[in-house]
Amino acid sequence: MADVILKDVEKRYGDNSPVITGVNLEIRDREFMVLVGPSGCGKSTLLRMVAGLEEITAGTISIGDKVVNDVPPKDRDIAMVFQSYALYPHMSVRENLEFGLVLRRTPRAEIDRLVAEAAKILGLEEFLERRPKELSGGQRQRVALGRAIVRKPSVFLFDEPLSNLDAKLRVQMRAEIKKLQHRLGVTAIYVTHDQVEAMTMGNRIAVLNAGKIQQVGTPLEVYERPQNLFVANFIGTPPMNFIRATVADGGSLLEAKTFSLPSPAAARGALAGRRGKTIVVGIRPEDVVESGRSTRGATAPVELTADLVETLGDEVVVHGSRGEDEIAFKMDPHNPPAFGGKVAALVQIDRLHLFDADTEQRIAN
Ligand SMILES: Nc1ncnc2c1ncn2[C@@H]1O[C@H](COP(=O)(O)OP(=O)(O)O)[C@@H](O)[C@H]1O
Ligand SMILES: [Mg+2]
Repeated sequence: MADVILKDVEKRYGDNSPVITGVNLEIRDREFMVLVGPSGCGKSTLLRMVAGLEEITAGTISIGDKVVNDVPPKDRDIAMVFQSYALYPHMSVRENLEFGLVLRRTPRAEIDRLVAEAAKILGLEEFLERRPKELSGGQRQRVALGRAIVRKPSVFLFDEPLSNLDAKLRVQMRAEIKKLQHRLGVTAIYVTHDQVEAMTMGNRIAVLNAGKIQQVGTPLEVYERPQNLFVANFIGTPPMNFIRATVADGGSLLEAKTFSLPSPAAARGALAGRRGKTIVVGIRPEDVVESGRSTRGATAPVELTADLVETLGDEVVVHGSRGEDEIAFKMDPHNPPAFGGKVAALVQIDRLHLFDADTEQRIAN
């Protein structure tokens, strides 16, 4: 068993204000947990504390039921893969793969077996005698993965391992890593700033901002019920639209600057107590459709001007507006509006996300 449990974890560098505060997170045995957040939010710091490369200022970290705060990295049963592959340039691929095992005095026959196995899994058999500089970026990243695999750790830690690869290779490697983790049955903590990577790879994702966990859940839970404005804005492309609106008509109407929407039936109770208050209405681009398309549940018509039309092949993204209110939405690619043209759109009311304008927290619905 290798659960990883973080309890009230805090990190300060010197006397500065903390860069990680009150982090509580349980990563289950064999789970693929993704820590996602913008650059500088503390992802690497958190991962390095799990690895033992960074001291923990307060709180505890346990791996497989054992508190590891004072356990050195080599005794934590983890292996870490970094963005900067960190390969030894003067060693061959084989020597790079063997290095950690030799240090641990693993018997030669065992080393050969582990290296052969990892090379086979990762398709590196032909490259074992090459130096890192004779490999492509993707192959180097495979060697870095191989070095983690041969150690047979119970926890894999990944710190943005694909950031140096081009877009196509990144998509390919992310599938490979996911399959590998599943096949090896290890627990994984994977750090990235890329929300698409987070959504596609994680069994669960933890969204981090400014050293605090904002939300933990399956990708779909986080996507469908973001708990605050930060998460709502961070997850999803194109991002969710945000419209400020006043709660009117006893809670049943949301009045934006240039149009009104009925409020979702499920939220009316919660809105009744907010009459006259400003809230933020979140609308996902796929929840606005051109009129005539099939919809589910209540809809409200809004006429929008198409300010920009982006063709993606399977759909077009239309950046629409109505006065100061802007709404991007997705349309069938075969019938796009002209720039500046009008679109009769339907907003799917039951899919609106509502947030308190002051606390930025989700309002129950
Ligand atoms: N060794 C250090 N000394 C002081 N501050 C640091 C150190 N390492 C990281 N930080 C600060 O901690 C914050 C989080 O950094 P980091 O964990 O690297 O973020 P991320 O990996 O999410 O980009 C940043 O504000 C960074 O400047
Ligand atoms: Mg980092």
